[in-house]
Amino acid sequence: MRVFRDLSEWRQFRSQLETSLGFVPTMGALHPGHLALVQRSHQENSKTLVSVFVNPTQFDDPTDLAAYPQTLDQDIQLLEGAADYLLAPSAAQMYPNGYHYRVSEDEVSKQLEGAQRPGHFDGMLTVVMKLLNLAQAHQAYFGEKDFQQLQLVQGMVSEFFLNTKIVACPTVREADGLAMSSRNRRLTPEQRELAAEFPHILKSAPDLSQAQSQLEQQGFAVDYVQEWRGRRLGAVRLGQVRLIDNL
Ligand code: PAF
Repeated sequence: MRVFRDLSEWRQFRSQLETSLGFVPTMGALHPGHLALVQRSHQENSKTLVSVFVNPTQFDDPTDLAAYPQTLDQDIQLLEGAADYLLAPSAAQMYPNGYHYRVSEDEVSKQLEGAQRPGHFDGMLTVVMKLLNLAQAHQAYFGEKDFQQLQLVQGMVSEFFLNTKIVACPTVREADGLAMSSRNRRLTPEQRELAAEFPHILKSAPDLSQAQSQLEQQGFAVDYVQEWRGRRLGAVRLGQVRLIDNL
């Protein structure tokens, strides 16, 4: 796998690459859920690019950004043999003039996750626009775990006539049902055990208010449980760790 840390070098290389390219954007701390996206891209394209960039503009809380796991050396090892190219730019390269230009959506991005994390989706859409322009990929792969993110990215690609097809991939789960997430590694062993109740209750509770009260009884702080676009979405906190899921 060829690693690009310099955006000019990547752009030069990309301008000469004539084969079909699949793209998997990530913030690193890779787990089997990411690797499933990489594998799918590998099956459907001649070459696969992965990006690892912990995007500061999508964190509304600086302590959350500081605590976000950064494991680039391990990520490179995991990707060897699975991806062809890795783009791992610095924040100074991605935001050379700060954060003055941004992509903003004013409806979907204000609900659910957006209501809890002001500015999160503007930061996410802005970096995804930058990454899609850098990658110039034929297809880009996003997990359904971040369902609202996926819907917003699909909307942005359609509204701005971008040439990349967004491919939605099913959530990958641990054996006990917990959706894989880079944040899971911050759970204590006790919290990790309890965390499996989250998807279980989200799925089995007969209605939203019972889902909320069952989660609270188990010790979760509930940010929301809501039906949206044919799915039941939830966000909960266990200590400092925030988990989201949808079914
Ligand atoms: O889902 C993520 O990991 C991030 O939101 C993304 C899409 C890589 C943008 O930073």
